[in-house]
Amino acid sequence: MSSGRSSRDPVEHSPLIAACSPAGLYVASLDGELIDCNEALAGLLGYGSRAEALAARELTLPCVAGGAGAGPSGTSGIEGVLMRRDGSVARVLRTEAVIEERGARRVVGAIVDLSASRCTEDRRRDLSEELRQAQKMEAVGRLAGGIAHDYNNLLAIILNYTSLVMEELDEQSPAQKDLAEIQRAAQRAASLTRQLLTVSRRGLAQPVVLDLRDVVRGVEGALRAAMGDAVDLAIGLGPVGCRVLSDAGQLEQVVMSLAQNARDAMPGGGRLSIEARAVRVGAAGGLHDAHPAIPPGRYARLVVSDTGTGMSDDVRTRAFEPFFTTKPRGKGTGLGLATVYGIVKQWRGHIELASRPGEGTRVEIYLPLAARQASSRRGRAAGAAPRPGAGGTVLVTDDEDAVVALACRILSQHGYTTLTARGPREAVRVCEEQRGRVDLLLTDVLMPEMSGRELAERLVKLRPEMKVLLMSGYTGDALDDPRAAAPRAAVLAKPFTAESLLRAVRRALR
Ligand SMILES: Nc1ncnc2c1ncn2[C@@H]1O[C@H](COP(=O)(O)OP(=O)(O)OP(=O)(O)O)[C@@H](O)[C@H]1O
Ligand SMILES: [Mg+2]
Repeated sequence: MSSGRSSRDPVEHSPLIAACSPAGLYVASLDGELIDCNEALAGLLGYGSRAEALAARELTLPCVAGGAGAGPSGTSGIEGVLMRRDGSVARVLRTEAVIEERGARRVVGAIVDLSASRCTEDRRRDLSEELRQAQKMEAVGRLAGGIAHDYNNLLAIILNYTSLVMEELDEQSPAQKDLAEIQRAAQRAASLTRQLLTVSRRGLAQPVVLDLRDVVRGVEGALRAAMGDAVDLAIGLGPVGCRVLSDAGQLEQVVMSLAQNARDAMPGGGRLSIEARAVRVGAAGGLHDAHPAIPPGRYARLVVSDTGTGMSDDVRTRAFEPFFTTKPRGKGTGLGLATVYGIVKQWRGHIELASRPGEGTRVEIYLPLAARQASSRRGRAAGAAPRPGAGGTVLVTDDEDAVVALACRILSQHGYTTLTARGPREAVRVCEEQRGRVDLLLTDVLMPEMSGRELAERLVKLRPEMKVLLMSGYTGDALDDPRAAAPRAAVLAKPFTAESLLRAVRRALR
């Protein structure tokens, strides 16, 4: 019986194998004319079907067998390139054998497309670079956030006691000038702390829904002035809304900081383009392929590109590091891009940097589009001067005694009655024992026994009429989600000044 044998005859299976093979298989003449192939080869070369590829007169597959490195009867695993039908180039691995068929010499070969696996490899590299960057920034953030909490308390004390002394001293006193110096230094320290908090994504922000295009329009004048005549500034704004949940001041800072970097990279002049438009990053194909680290969705995209010096690989990979700068001492602090990165991440965005020496730099930022023109109408704080306190009873609690004492001093000077508690447990007791009203709880967010938010929840049950004002040096865990940061409780940034404290208290009591 020969039936068993014939069903195992390899010749019968070979068309099936050829059809299933992911590798492109072919037979060609020695000068590259295609005689037969499988569907995979047709696909690899950009043809719709095997029949279409075989009919294509323009198609040749110049043989590599017999070329350099080849044995007398063929080659194995030669890496090279092939032109696809649309003119694009595929990187391929080719194996060929030369055979005799009906008296003619032919080439039988297999081609594996390397471009696809290379693309996956590139994606993996991109993603792991993004992860490394995120971990590094997270570590810096934790460090900065931890320091800033204590640091802000100390700065609040220095700033406020200095102004109290200044008020009490005679205006003509020679000590006034010295005190003003102390105040200036403390303000500088406070602004550096604020910047570090922004780097670490813990900066206190004012979340509003705003249009990215308005941000760019808003800084255009300042940009033109800062760039000077040598830089040709081109601004392109998309036709549809680019609404994002973010902080206007922070986004202005992003645009200005990137523009300043561009200007510094074009000392002899050049072109700076700024573009803001709404884009869709699709699940497959299009923008997602170009930016594998960005989840599919709708984004407002900001692109800032220049024709400047560009960056070496070394500079590019370190550019986002806090304090990394190639600029002379006193010119750059190296916090520009680190701050931009912090801001972008605070609003759940993505940032990409492309740059090569001599080819300029392109920074792309993707911020998730806000679903609707929702929520927060909380604009920026009005700059009104404090009015004398309208009265009311404020319970002040903080684990730092000096902060409690300071806040109480400012509040009572402005007509408020104050109750004090050194920490949450004492605050609960005071609240239980106090007979009269408590209009406001002014509490630190981060305290060892209980967070300010938990304390507020407990006390509001006891006294439903009581309003809450949280004091925070940074948006740490308790205030992490910007959307969650718009609760019943208002937030006062530390270090506070008498003015900002009184303004926040008045607003909370309204
Ligand atoms: N558009 C650009 N073209 C070329 N190099 C750039 C560009 N942007 C940033 N860099 C490089 O990255 C480094 C870090 O930039 P970053 O903005 O963080 O700090 P800086 O500009 O040096 O200082 P700062 O922004 O604090 O004034 C720069 O010193 C520069 O070497
Ligand atoms: Mg900079």
